[in-house]
Amino acid sequence: MTGIVVRPLRVADKASWRNLWARYNAFYGREGATALPDEIVETTWDRLLNADEPVHGLAAEVDGALVGLAHFLFHRNLIRLADTCYLQDLFTDESARGFGVGRGLIEAVARACREHGVGDMYWHTHQGNTAARALYDRIALNTEFLVYRRAVD
Ligand SMILES: CC(C)(COP(=O)(O)OP(=O)(O)OC[C@H]1O[C@@H](n2cnc3c(N)ncnc32)[C@H](O)[C@@H]1OP(=O)(O)O)[C@@H](O)C(=O)NCCC(=O)NCCS
Repeated sequence: MTGIVVRPLRVADKASWRNLWARYNAFYGREGATALPDEIVETTWDRLLNADEPVHGLAAEVDGALVGLAHFLFHRNLIRLADTCYLQDLFTDESARGFGVGRGLIEAVARACREHGVGDMYWHTHQGNTAARALYDRIALNTEFLVYRRAVD
């Protein structure tokens, strides 16, 4: 696959982004009865396009079609002066996998970090996500930290 272009999301991407975002969420079981409420999807889209928000979105495009997305945010880090980047979401269309789209998106997030003076990025994946880990093990350090989560009533 040639001609992969990675660029910021733009207004005209909305329908394609919604499609990719829905499939990414379905990958994590958020579909059907557990699908994200439309209010969240719409608000997330608005935030991604709002330059005053700390969240950012990139699209990977091949021949004019969106085949991948990456969402990331910058936040404070108590052991650094500069902010840190959390790469929250990464998704490649099934038909475009294994051609470097995922890697290209991560490299583009790294470039955005450099432009913002951010020297550190991190992300999570499930230990059983072998496809993702095949990529991540080549380009990043596995910290071996676990993620704990607790709902707050
Ligand atoms: C993880 C994911 C984003 C990877 O996207 P991708 O576009 O296929 O990634 P790339 O093509 O850049 O892959 C990079 C490397 O990983 C390898 N790779 C990708 N998929 C692989 C697989 N299923 N098995 C083995 N290796 C794989 C590629 O061969 C490539 O190696 P190379 O650069 O040395 O040639 C994609 O599989 C995906 O969207 N999965 C579902 C959602 C998901 O898991 N998101 C990440 C959550 S943390």
